[in-house]
Amino acid sequence: MRTQVAIIGAGPAGLLLGHLLLRAGIDAVVMEDRSRQHVEQRIRAGVLEQGTVDLLVASGVGERLLRQGLRHHGIDLLFDARRHHIDLSGPTGGRAITVYGQHEVVKDLIAARLAAGAPTLFQVSGVALHGFDGNKPSVTFAHGGRRHTLHCDFIAGCDGFHGVSREAIPPAALQVFERSYPFAWLGILAEAAPAAQELIYASHARGFALFSMRSPQITRLYLQCRPDEDLGQWPDARIWQELHARLETGDGWRLNEGPVLQKSVTPMRSHVVEPMQYGRLFLAGDAAHIVPPTGAKGMNLAVADVRALARALAAHYGERRDDLLAAYSVTCLRRVWRAEHFSWWMTALLHRFPGQAPFMARLQQAELEYVTASPAAAATLAENYVGLPFATFEGT
Ligand code: APR
Ligand code: PHB
Repeated sequence: MRTQVAIIGAGPAGLLLGHLLLRAGIDAVVMEDRSRQHVEQRIRAGVLEQGTVDLLVASGVGERLLRQGLRHHGIDLLFDARRHHIDLSGPTGGRAITVYGQHEVVKDLIAARLAAGAPTLFQVSGVALHGFDGNKPSVTFAHGGRRHTLHCDFIAGCDGFHGVSREAIPPAALQVFERSYPFAWLGILAEAAPAAQELIYASHARGFALFSMRSPQITRLYLQCRPDEDLGQWPDARIWQELHARLETGDGWRLNEGPVLQKSVTPMRSHVVEPMQYGRLFLAGDAAHIVPPTGAKGMNLAVADVRALARALAAHYGERRDDLLAAYSVTCLRRVWRAEHFSWWMTALLHRFPGQAPFMARLQQAELEYVTASPAAAATLAENYVGLPFATFEGT
């Protein structure tokens, strides 16, 4: 078997890369260790930046997104038992976010791939990467009970945080930057109409909470919990009680309850490896970096990475230019670190840290008041939240 680009992982990064390459006339094979059904039903993040939406629409996979996505022009920050509105669009020249589940993006990309007859292998196992430090990379794997070797020009490691691609790089060639947080998020998906139009990020004495949604029928909610939280200790009634306590302010607004469709605990960490390239292996998305979910940046960073990689590969094949490939890691890391900072800042602003010193609590309070009282501070939040334009990080 031979292709131009071997793509490992069929999450948003791998699938969108495959799609953009297909449009540029570059052959790729996508291989994924889980089933199609599994990746299409995996509940993950749901906030798309303006640039992400624009790219999906411009590349022909935005039709359902434009129909079903919920466009939001603001968010609320809740503290001191009051909701404070942050306008996202005013300070950003009309940019906005769109709420649309990551698994819906994945479904749209898989549908486009299969319609084009592009090679996509689910349920592969034993994926191993070879020869990427030279000119003849290959990937070996098992599929349908047989071992295969896929020869290629480049390998794209889009296999997430727990994948094999990053691990295949000699550790001495990578610098790792890491921070873990002393809490996690307990998330639920509930069959209940969202009781508010916009997302609510709550700083509460009992811990952070987030009100979000997926559709006019489905509410998505999160609670700060312990990092080793046992879901067995959280029957639905306890979750609702805690959500009511953290998200309601006594002004008559009530969360709508409904059957809990899904429940999970998400760890919180920041993690970056540098560089995002080793020889002919390029890392993209969660394989290269993780952000805590508070800034809603994970999927958007994956999209920005593969946009840069697709452009660099198009320049390589179309114009015999390798400057964009050489600059790939540096270009991506500029946006990555901006998002790492923003996600860390949102996390530090809104969570209760165990054993938190009173000094830190006062700093959080001062920052919350500043960000809601000062148009300049609010604009900084808005600009980061809707996502900085691609061009911001593209200068060489
Ligand atoms: N071989 C093949 N596929 C693999 C392997 C492997 N050894 N290991 C992991 N995978 C697959 C996973 O099953 C998954 O489908 O790679 C895919 C990686 O996808 P994601 O984890 O969704 O990562 P990415 O595409 O970078 O998207 C980042 O995902 O985790 C969220 O919040 C994160 O929104 C962000 C987005
Ligand atoms: C979500 O809807 O899943 C969501 C929204 C905002 C975040 C994180 C997750 O910051």
